[in-house]
Amino acid sequence: MLNIVLFGPPGAGKGTQAEKLQQKYGILHLSTGEVIRQEMNRGSELGRLAAQQMEGGKLASDELVLGIIENYLQEHRTAPGVIFDGFPRTLPQAEAFDSMLKKIGTQVTVMLALDVPDEVVTERILTRGKTSGRADDQSLETIQNRIAVYKKQTAVVADFYKKQDKFRAVNGVGTIDEIFDRLCAAIDALR
Ligand code: AP5
Ligand code: MG
Repeated sequence: MLNIVLFGPPGAGKGTQAEKLQQKYGILHLSTGEVIRQEMNRGSELGRLAAQQMEGGKLASDELVLGIIENYLQEHRTAPGVIFDGFPRTLPQAEAFDSMLKKIGTQVTVMLALDVPDEVVTERILTRGKTSGRADDQSLETIQNRIAVYKKQTAVVADFYKKQDKFRAVNGVGTIDEIFDRLCAAIDALR
């Protein structure tokens, strides 16, 4: 299995690039943020719980997110590969993820980390917020809080994969196609 952890701050372009990578490599795309938003829109118990936890730009609990991943892996055991977008986002998530994958005889292939400065991601999210309807895109305060949460809780996950020699940084500034080419070059270099 080609298991790609697509990493980077809020607004880095993970979702945008994952869609393109999914097509090119014929693998699946799982965005934990998308799954949570769908649950919120459906008004499910999980969606309600997540909405409470995420208030103001905070993370959902590890327990909630790991439940989503566990279900997904069970349902997609025969997939040729998956792009994990927005997961893992804490060290406990990364550790639990390693064990889950090991149990099904696979592992993370690579972490591709989109490197984008704060000002650029803030601008991208504010622009998207005009049409996205995403609650967490609407105020500058929430966006800044998401970036702060990323630095405080999520950035350390990169070190976890650096220690396994699976970390690859990719310049995330430029046109969507330029960034896509850089990501593809990083993936193709693995083969
Ligand atoms: P999530 O949905 O993962 O949001 P995020 O990480 O904040 O990232 P975004 O989806 O906002 O940005 P993106 O990197 O996908 O960029 P995009 O391609 O959209 O998570 C949301 C929330 O859910 C979290 O805050 C947390 O509470 C919770 N959650 C999710 N996963 C969790 C986990 N594992 N643990 C705990 N909680 C979790 O691009 C952004 C915009 O820029 C778009 O409008 C796009 O069109 C535009 N754009 C993209 N590329 C370019 C470019 N090259 N040039 C110009 N514009 C561009
Ligand atoms: Mg996204």
